[in-house]
Amino acid sequence: MAISGILWQDLQHTELLRHVRILQRGILEQTLNDVELAKITGFLRWYVQMHFSGEDAYMVKHAYPQIEEHRLEHKQMTDQLEGLFGMLDDGMGNVDLHSCAALCVKLNKWYLTHIAGPDQKLATFIKAKGVN
Ligand SMILES: [Fe+2]
Ligand SMILES: [Fe+2]
Repeated sequence: MAISGILWQDLQHTELLRHVRILQRGILEQTLNDVELAKITGFLRWYVQMHFSGEDAYMVKHAYPQIEEHRLEHKQMTDQLEGLFGMLDDGMGNVDLHSCAALCVKLNKWYLTHIAGPDQKLATFIKAKGVN
């Protein structure tokens, strides 16, 4: 688990991981249903709005030098998730486990390539400004 030391950021990253684990278990055990899936996509929609704008506000406030690269990664992830959301069920309550697995892979990759990378760099920068 990548811990940045910025409390709100760590809590939200942890909450994302918790949802990824629920998704993963539901896929592996083939128990994922439309209600559970709606909770996960609802959380993810909240996350890309609130979490990304939270990090953005900190980047603006502290004139973070890599703001454009970081913003671009957030934008691409938001767009890719929106694209995946439309494929997760057939609109009649039947969950497509194959597409859900693709979402799960995407989220795990995001953890490794963004949360454990650029987000930790951002947190180090913010902490150096005396903020937590
Ligand atoms: Fe983050
Ligand atoms: Fe980020």
